[in-house]
Amino acid sequence: MTRHADVALRSPPLPAPSPRPRGTGSHPKRAHLRWARDAAPLALPPVTNRLHYGDNLAVLRAHVASDSVDLVYLDPPFNSNATYNILFKSPAAGRADAAHPDAAQAQIRAFEDTWRWNDSAEAAFDEVARSGHLRAFELLRAMRGFLGENDMMAYLAMMAIRLIELHRVLKPTGSLYLHCDPTASHYLKLLLDGVFGAENYRSEISWKRSSAHNDAKQGRAQYGHIRDVLLFYTKSRHWTWNTLYTRYDERYLAGAYRHAEPDGRRYRRGDLTAAKPGGDVSYGWPVRRAPGGAWQADLDEAWRDPLPGWEYKRVPPYEGRYWAFSRANMAEFARARRLAYAASGMPEYKRYLDEQPGVPLQNDWGDLPPVTGGERLGYPTQKPLALLERIIAASSNEGDVVLDPFCGCGTAVHAAQKLGRRWIGIDVTHLAITLIEKRLTDAFPAAAFTVEGTPRDLAAALDLARRDKYQFQWWAVSMVDAMPFGGKRKGADGGIDGIIYFKPDGRRTDRALVSVKGGSHVGVTMIRDLHSAMERERAPLGVFISAALPTSVMEREAAAVGRFRSEATGKTYARLQIVTLAELFAGRRPDIPFVDANAAFRRAAREAAPQGRLL
Ligand SMILES: C[S@@+](CC[C@H](N)C(=O)[O-])C[C@H]1O[C@@H](n2cnc3c(N)ncnc32)[C@H](O)[C@@H]1O
Repeated sequence: MTRHADVALRSPPLPAPSPRPRGTGSHPKRAHLRWARDAAPLALPPVTNRLHYGDNLAVLRAHVASDSVDLVYLDPPFNSNATYNILFKSPAAGRADAAHPDAAQAQIRAFEDTWRWNDSAEAAFDEVARSGHLRAFELLRAMRGFLGENDMMAYLAMMAIRLIELHRVLKPTGSLYLHCDPTASHYLKLLLDGVFGAENYRSEISWKRSSAHNDAKQGRAQYGHIRDVLLFYTKSRHWTWNTLYTRYDERYLAGAYRHAEPDGRRYRRGDLTAAKPGGDVSYGWPVRRAPGGAWQADLDEAWRDPLPGWEYKRVPPYEGRYWAFSRANMAEFARARRLAYAASGMPEYKRYLDEQPGVPLQNDWGDLPPVTGGERLGYPTQKPLALLERIIAASSNEGDVVLDPFCGCGTAVHAAQKLGRRWIGIDVTHLAITLIEKRLTDAFPAAAFTVEGTPRDLAAALDLARRDKYQFQWWAVSMVDAMPFGGKRKGADGGIDGIIYFKPDGRRTDRALVSVKGGSHVGVTMIRDLHSAMERERAPLGVFISAALPTSVMEREAAAVGRFRSEATGKTYARLQIVTLAELFAGRRPDIPFVDANAAFRRAAREAAPQGRLL
């Protein structure tokens, strides 16, 4: 017995009984979908798509209604014990020297995937106990008994309480895909059994995320891990489903579709007999052939007035079998030229390749390559768009709501937008939210969405500054179109929190250093520090963002740094500018010529204009 045995438990909530919806799993809609890689973006229904900054547990509880989501895709940290850095595209790349330290350091810690059994793990465990989800809690408690209070258990407690919330927000016909890797997939599958019920497990998909690791020479004495696991569960026995098809394997085609019409149309020949009787299925099929010619149906009974040299006969089904179709149906096939004949005169059905939808998609997704060149945005765990398009196409319909509670650089919301679904994305870092905003605006310039949870007024900004210094800095630098710099590595930033890239002469890229101060006390030494950083880094401009009002000494010190002249605009600019948070909210921005807001971010390719759809 653990110390939680005295917690009062209620039965898990039962899913509401649901009418059988159209296009659901138990009634698969043969939509003949190709996987949606080439699909053009669709017009979205008039609803608000939302990006939330914040911990998904709090956001789900406060902002996502029960039974409101059609599809959840989650790609949480995997308990990899790693730190993930986001790589920024530095315009100074390749020029790493004292003047351009960002060329070498154009990366910042995005999120950490390290778990410890501590107070928050204990709190998550308690919340599962109080959730009323008896099955899930029993499982988690059993896992705690087995694993003890270690990192894995902390990770599983964090996941369990979130899976319970995700189960709550799913519609009765909804589906969930949990993307993980073998580090914890076996435990997560058990947790999902606990939360969703083992009877609602649908598939375990294996996605080949990388090519072979070649570290045998470094002493690796086990198989290379190159596959991720996607666990697919549904909320009930009736779920939205669209069968997807993949292309046939060339070797299979060469073997199966060996025949072709004179115009090149390929077909295979299929047996027309059946094991079981039923109706008009025991006749002799009439055929005839000219001397040296091929067999053909004798529909007009030419055998009654035979031509010299012609052969006429009636072909029975194979010994012990029956025709699969009645005489009338066979005659239809013959008239439609769908019959071919063996040398014996046995009719066979012509199945044309161009009429086949392809191979129904199986659970081995080795055909989807990892994120490649143009698609890569620098986010460490970015997943390929094609993977998300496939999931969304299979498990949702146009206009449905897709939720990604760990949305990273926003692959799922990008795919949802592209396929005409509504979407909700949640991430706990401002970096991710900033990246997604840019990604969506680049790919879909007309996309409408809101960003929730980022400070909208001074009080909220100050609150964020109090709660999380780094998130506050990342938010503040995004307000002035700066690339975050330095991150959490101690001493790495040298007092610089962001870099604004601009083109003073309209061509050459230069930098303005940004320093952010969220505290209530600011002083002149901070201005001096920024000035020294500008001198050290040979940056012509500096921006001091301050929550507190600057003192007049600070303003004088900043003014003394002098002015910068731009050839292109013919104007001069204060070299060290102080901007308060209140001014930022009032719409003021640093006065810098030709800011290149996208210089540090890899741009997502713009999605093609609507041009019909393949779905
Ligand atoms: C593996 S990444 C997701 C990558 C994403 N699938 C993509 O293609 O870009 C996991 C994300 O979860 C976020 N995250 C971690 N804990 C979170 C939490 N409690 N709430 C919301 N987001 C969280 C991290 O900031 C990170 O961006």
